[in-house]
Amino acid sequence: MFNPDTINRFQSVDTPFYYYDMGVLRQTLEACHNASAKYGFHVHYAMKANFNPKVLEMIQSFGFGADCVSGGEVKAAIEHGFSKTKVVFAGVGKSDREINLGLDADIFCFNVESVQELHIINDLAKAKNKTAGIAIRINPNVDAHTHHFITTGLDENKFGINTWQLNDVVEALRSCPNLQFLGIHFHIGSQITDMEVYKSLCIRVNEIQTWFEDHGLQVKVLNTGGGLGVDYYNPDTNTISDFESYFKVFKDFLNVKPGQEVHFELGRALVAQSASLISRVLYVKNGQKKNFLVLDAGMTELMRPMLYQAYHEIENLSRKSESESATHYDVVGPICESTDCFRKDVELPESFRGDLIAVRTAGAYGEVMASGYNLRDRAPSVYSEV
Ligand code: LLP
Repeated sequence: MFNPDTINRFQSVDTPFYYYDMGVLRQTLEACHNASAKYGFHVHYAMKANFNPKVLEMIQSFGFGADCVSGGEVKAAIEHGFSKTKVVFAGVGKSDREINLGLDADIFCFNVESVQELHIINDLAKAKNKTAGIAIRINPNVDAHTHHFITTGLDENKFGINTWQLNDVVEALRSCPNLQFLGIHFHIGSQITDMEVYKSLCIRVNEIQTWFEDHGLQVKVLNTGGGLGVDYYNPDTNTISDFESYFKVFKDFLNVKPGQEVHFELGRALVAQSASLISRVLYVKNGQKKNFLVLDAGMTELMRPMLYQAYHEIENLSRKSESESATHYDVVGPICESTDCFRKDVELPESFRGDLIAVRTAGAYGEVMASGYNLRDRAPSVYSEV
């Protein structure tokens, strides 16, 4: 990702900034596109992972749809060229204004997360004399074996409709003429690397599909959500997630009927490895017990380590040579919070003020989760040639 010319280019750029390797993004998208096309599967990019305009434009150029979770994302998807026939709108708390925006844009589908929401969308669609396509988000009670903060498919999570409520769903659908039932939707969590988890999901989806059919509802779309993880430990040697194995699990274990569409909502796996957060060392503080590298980037630019104890590789781009003496540092940001630490005890070459530091695999849930806390300037983005 960083050849000498790239690092040279960074010397004249103000830090912190996000650096996008558009070549990595393109290769990742190609790999996903080819692996999903093999089985006729449809991918809707989960825009929440990264809605940087250049990123969105490249993703839509591959023909992927968009999975949105707010009115703002629906608008941005359409503005950046995603076909409205491939826009889905999910979220446990869509406001009436946002639902109306989706109805006005004639999006493909609302992923509905409660029985109340079915009635609200029906009423709003009726007022516009429209029919809204809907899928029911079901909570399958499958454990994603990932960090508990990013697990979504268990009964104790707020997402989706639990299976014991499905009779109420069928009843509501019968009384909502302005809704068109398209299918069923699932999403069990994020950063999933164990393919057995997806096998368990397929088995649950098959059971639930049968239940719907037994109740007289034809399932046209099976949407199994996203969640495929990336290798945060080896961004250079294992850059692209194993899309082949991922889609093959669904090919092998999902009961797909003729004419049915299978949809996926991948976010992280498409964008995570394409960006790094680049910052400079402001100060090296040598304490009695610890050495600190104080960077000019912190939790306001990349919140994942502080929020989920997430691991990101950290490199000193100014001193890559192995001969330089290794030192252990706690790599911290400038924010007035003790949690503002990227990682503790990181082994790095001895580092100095002004060194360029890269925090890797920051393309997903990085820039989009930045905050203005401490009235910090927003970090800009810098792009490689494609
Ligand atoms: N579909 C639904 C309904 C979702 O809630 C999510 C992510 C996705 C798809 C995309 O999941 P992905 O393929 O990116 O794993 N901020 C956290 C991750 C939050 C994920 C939220 N939902 C992090 O930085 O790890």
